[in-house]
Amino acid sequence: MNYEVPNHVAIIMDGNGRWAQKRGLKRTKGHQKGADTLKKISEYIYDKKIKVLSVFAFSTENWKRDKEEVDFLMDLFITAFKKNFDAVKQKGVKVVFSGLKTKLNDKVLDAMKTMTEETKDNKNGIFNICLNYGGQDEIVEATKKIANLVESKKLKAEDITKEEFNKCMFNDLPPIDLLIRTSGEFRISNFMLWQMAYAELYFTDVLWPDFDEKELDKAIESFNKRDRRFGAVKK
Ligand code: IPE
Ligand code: IPE
Ligand code: MG
Repeated sequence: MNYEVPNHVAIIMDGNGRWAQKRGLKRTKGHQKGADTLKKISEYIYDKKIKVLSVFAFSTENWKRDKEEVDFLMDLFITAFKKNFDAVKQKGVKVVFSGLKTKLNDKVLDAMKTMTEETKDNKNGIFNICLNYGGQDEIVEATKKIANLVESKKLKAEDITKEEFNKCMFNDLPPIDLLIRTSGEFRISNFMLWQMAYAELYFTDVLWPDFDEKELDKAIESFNKRDRRFGAVKK
């Protein structure tokens, strides 16, 4: 495809449970298949020279699920991280995590630390994994950091800018250009509220485990048809 690619793509990977239920399988099977989809799609994204990929892996609200499902997801993160790590390193992509460190077990935290440290100097792209993440929490945490800077006189209140604020988010990321949500839900579910201020939104009925390279191409094609005016009037 000869299209302009967005700089930052963010994905709400939804529909794993329904994918499994439709087949009479346990919800966890859907998560497993979903992890394979992520591996495939992330590689495709960086091959297409998209610089930043953010994915919603686990929300602060997802702790409400059965313990069995939550435990499965935590173990899956570790195995999926390990399985995908070589490809990520090979592509020269830097892995970062967004979210609260509370509630995550030591094994998950260790895997996150290894991936972050071993890729910190990579320059080809950024893979932002949102784990134990909530968009409102992120804004609250950033506000606390800003307040500390002001309290310790490192920053004046009148010098607080959008750029300063962005630096205090979990990661200093560029704005989202294209937000994709699978599974036919038309909501944001507390995903990257700050970063999606001017994102183009793309919703598809395809369940995340069924999402593939062709579906991503469709989303990018749709993105290319959008007239991004950012409030201005085109001459
Ligand atoms: C998304 O799929 C994955 C996570 C939230 C971890 P779901 O598990 O939400 O799947 P549905 O929405 O129940 O089908
Ligand atoms: C959003 O999906 C979170 C992830 C994809 C990790 P959910 O399935 O948790 O969101 P709701 O419940 O439909 O809002
Ligand atoms: Mg869901």
